[in-house]
Amino acid sequence: MNAMSMMRRALAFSSMLAAACGGGDPASPSAATKDSVTDTRPLRMLADARHVSIGGVTGSVLFLQSGAGGDTLRATLKREFNMVWSGNFLKFATIRPTRATFDYRLADSMVTFATTNGMKVRGHTLVWHNQNPAWLTQGTWTRDQTIAALYEHVDAVVGHYRGKLAAWDVVNEVLNDDGTMRSTLWRDRIGDDYIELAFRRAAAADPSVPLYYNDYNIEGPGAKADSAYALVKRLKNAGVPIDGVGFQGHFVVGKLPTRAQLAANIARFVALGVKVEFTEVDVRVALPSNASALAQQAQDYATIVQACLDVPGCDAVEMASVFDGESWVPGTFPGWGDASLLDMTFARKPAYFAVRGALGG
Ligand code: XIL
Repeated sequence: MNAMSMMRRALAFSSMLAAACGGGDPASPSAATKDSVTDTRPLRMLADARHVSIGGVTGSVLFLQSGAGGDTLRATLKREFNMVWSGNFLKFATIRPTRATFDYRLADSMVTFATTNGMKVRGHTLVWHNQNPAWLTQGTWTRDQTIAALYEHVDAVVGHYRGKLAAWDVVNEVLNDDGTMRSTLWRDRIGDDYIELAFRRAAAADPSVPLYYNDYNIEGPGAKADSAYALVKRLKNAGVPIDGVGFQGHFVVGKLPTRAQLAANIARFVALGVKVEFTEVDVRVALPSNASALAQQAQDYATIVQACLDVPGCDAVEMASVFDGESWVPGTFPGWGDASLLDMTFARKPAYFAVRGALGG
């Protein structure tokens, strides 16, 4: 890229940030009129009354853009949700393009947005095997060098947001589907204790932020959930500062565990002394979807919210995407989609009303 195009790109980025943080601020009166939905019972109001968080994610540049899509996304987020999670904004590759560079601009804009609109923020994620920069994934690393890189990252990033976040996903997706430990750059170079080292370091960097282990396919009964349970128990017994477990909640329509199974699994983790949150919920449907699939999806979303509300200690349900236009599903699972509460045009699906009903609205 030449100097001129780099400058153009930087200018475009700055104006996007300005739009997200203030310029096209959805809090301004003119922006309110752009949002056609006038609703006296947004999800967050109902969630507040139940003392739970209802979360939405953003993680795409749409959040930063002025104009119809970005305005509607931000207006929807702040109207419906009392929590946001950071999507791609805090992933290693996003904030550490080089070892010496810490680029917090995207994540900072989201934290500012959340603070302005009275929303909590989940930080995602410190230690993961995906979306890492080449300087970290490549080369030969000793255990000590990798621990040094881990500590450097945790100290800087957790330190940067000290006192500002409601949760940190310290480690993400540490298990294989059969329940064995996943081979990752962290585990392969450091050993199984990378998990406990990360938690202890994060607690030192921000003693007040709740620290989570986050994973998928651990929501209902099964070998992976049993291993996750055993892991959390081991960490707790060793005095590791873990405060919660995130159930990602990426489901296939009609293929969920039952409400009772979900609640029983949540309850056994809570009995270990941790919170449980659903952190990345979506319910994907084979495309093209139809009315009966969307009706089943609505029931599935209600099941998730009900199971969480069934167990004190489950205190948040966060959606993987606010609307289908930001969903990762079609790109990752070809032939599947329609997974969010709101469709491509932000119109509410039966699932939206089912979540509202489950929250008591
Ligand atoms: C996904 C994002 O939504 C996509 O935009 C990105 O291309 C890939 O990652 N588990 C996680 C999330 O913890 O961070 C992933 O998010 C989805 C699976």
